[in-house]
Amino acid sequence: METRKLRNGVEMPMEGFGVFQVPEAEVCEQAVRDALAAGYRLIDTAAAYFNEEAVGAAIKKSGIPRKELFITTKLWIQDAGYENAKKAFQTSLDKLGLDYLDLYLIHQPMNDYYGSWRALEELYEEGKIRAIGVCNFYPERLADLCVNARIKPMVNQVELHPFFQQTEALENMKEFGVVPEAWGPLAEGKHGIFTNEILTSIAQKYGKTVAQVVLRWNTQRGVVIIPKSIHKERIEENLQIWDFSLSEEDMAAISSLDLGHSEIIDHSAAETAKWLNGWKIHE
Ligand SMILES: NC(=O)c1ccc[n+]([C@@H]2O[C@H](COP(=O)([O-])OP(=O)(O)OC[C@H]3O[C@@H](n4cnc5c(N)ncnc54)[C@H](OP(=O)(O)O)[C@@H]3O)[C@@H](O)[C@H]2O)c1
Repeated sequence: METRKLRNGVEMPMEGFGVFQVPEAEVCEQAVRDALAAGYRLIDTAAAYFNEEAVGAAIKKSGIPRKELFITTKLWIQDAGYENAKKAFQTSLDKLGLDYLDLYLIHQPMNDYYGSWRALEELYEEGKIRAIGVCNFYPERLADLCVNARIKPMVNQVELHPFFQQTEALENMKEFGVVPEAWGPLAEGKHGIFTNEILTSIAQKYGKTVAQVVLRWNTQRGVVIIPKSIHKERIEENLQIWDFSLSEEDMAAISSLDLGHSEIIDHSAAETAKWLNGWKIHE
């Protein structure tokens, strides 16, 4: 598996395993155990996924040395602000049963994220987090944070798949030395991705599945991917992308699928901000 070197020298695996929409503890723990057994070392969770304990239990039972793992979790909007972020970080760490994180991300560019960022900078300097970053920061917010922050974010996790390629956003991240990480790398299965004609014909050519082709495509653009599945065979399938390369022609054919907008969530909409701010994870 390839890695991407973050600005501070930390090596981040280019493929990891995501656990969004797996709130059932047993299902989540089993999926993470299957992922670790298959060879994933990066696990992506969040306080707002309600499964940090299950992820922690799977990590513990795996017996894999801590230093071989790359564990990410995220700070939710409700816990934004300097003091709240510090408390929420410790709560996440306790739920995961860990004493440090590899990557801590601000989940949404909402509420007092500058206060949160100052807390993350301090936790990073204290050695409690190996790398810090953000999610869903569109170009203007990312540029603003990069210009003003004492320590620039090292990662920006955003929606990235063939139907929403965000080419300009990737250029913006490159300018600031921020590594892009794709959420929804399989477009959450939407927009007929698995039966798309172009993707299907490319997949046949390489003897691969559509899932493997779209995951490979993103990594060839330098994007870290974190596909989610609760099915063992898919978890394994999604990792079998490191033994082939897409040609320039096939990369270009996939690029032609860009719709230029998200079919999952519009972070620039006022309704989205109201909805996400209303999503409470504790009292
Ligand atoms: N920062 C953020 O705001 C944010 C937002 C969304 C997600 N994320 C992170 O990114 C991760 C990935 O994104 P995502 O979970 O939204 O979507 P995704 O990985 O693009 O897609 C997951 C969906 O694809 C299906 N699937 C997985 N592998 C497949 C395969 N080989 N063939 C056919 N179907 C397959 C899964 O079904 P089954 O599970 O039934 O197999 C599930 O329905 C999340 O789990 C989370 O860690 C972050």
